[in-house]
Amino acid sequence: MNKLATTTSKEIFDLVREDMAAIEREFGDYSMSSVQTITEIGEYLRQGGGKRLRPALLLLAAKLLNYKGSGAVRLGAVVEIIHTATLVHDDIIDEAQMRRGRPSPNTIWGNPKCVLAGDWLYMQAFQISLEERNLEVLDLLTELTKQMVEGELLQIEKLGSLITRDSHLDLIYRKTACLFAVCMQLGGVLAGATSEQQELLREYGRAIGMAFQITDDVLDLTASEVVLGKPVASDLREGKATLAVIHALERCSADERARIQTVLEQRAFNGVTHQDILAILNRYDSIAAASQEAAKFAQLAVEQLETFPENDFKRALLWLPLFVVSREK
Ligand code: IPE
Ligand code: IPE
Ligand code: MG
Ligand code: MG
Repeated sequence: MNKLATTTSKEIFDLVREDMAAIEREFGDYSMSSVQTITEIGEYLRQGGGKRLRPALLLLAAKLLNYKGSGAVRLGAVVEIIHTATLVHDDIIDEAQMRRGRPSPNTIWGNPKCVLAGDWLYMQAFQISLEERNLEVLDLLTELTKQMVEGELLQIEKLGSLITRDSHLDLIYRKTACLFAVCMQLGGVLAGATSEQQELLREYGRAIGMAFQITDDVLDLTASEVVLGKPVASDLREGKATLAVIHALERCSADERARIQTVLEQRAFNGVTHQDILAILNRYDSIAAASQEAAKFAQLAVEQLETFPENDFKRALLWLPLFVVSREK
């Protein structure tokens, strides 16, 4: 059996365990404000857990190229804080009730405080990143934040309407995959990667990020709330047509199309149930098609690593795309 096949999530976690613990401490320290509410919201989210995928990628990319400094822990905290800020804002935008198996912050503190806490977290992340004294880092993070905001905004504009596959893929690049791309590139920048290596790392990040969001959207359609820690079928209820739905819309009958459109427009299952929609999707193998698309992106990520040195970090990075597309939550 090759070594990759025997790699488990525990082995990968062991590789970065100490650094991940340090990131957790930095996140805790950095989310303290003299204004109690900000500290409370930051702390509530941090304690809610989360997979910490983005800092793990940043660490693995840096270590792949033998980076030994303290910047990876610091920037790992930065990307997780940015991720946290986007979640706080995203739950307000989506009027979400649940996140990480608990009430989402907007339901506890209300929208106004959460908007401001999210803004504070963004700025805090930027302030910490300044400690690197590296304009390339700042440049990447600024461009990233703009992309993420644009992604969420484009999504709002498309809500309730039918969207093409291409504009959907552009949207998920901006709202999700761009952060994964930047995490990988930042790891490379810290480790002194050549510009070719940075591009490969970035492309790996983009591809795993696309695979991640497509899988997230499939899980929203197929998983259970208990496993997922957030309500299911929420995309349909939020008026979002994701890849499987787009796939079915391109193939289904006028009547089926009207039923899907009713749910998206009304943002509710009135007369058309979640099961009805799943039946349509299954009739056209649309869930399988979306999963295959995710698998293709996962494979694309793996291919980017070919020229990098063989080490445990590379093995971890080769395994992660498979984990991302086969995860249950
Ligand atoms: C949630 O990301 C937002 C999406 C891009 C789908 P994660 O699923 O990584 O969230 P946590 O951090 O593990 O809760
Ligand atoms: C989240 O997208 C993307 C972000 C940039 C926060 P979703 O709205 O699909 O993610 P969940 O389902 O709320 O985690
Ligand atoms: Mg959401
Ligand atoms: Mg959203």
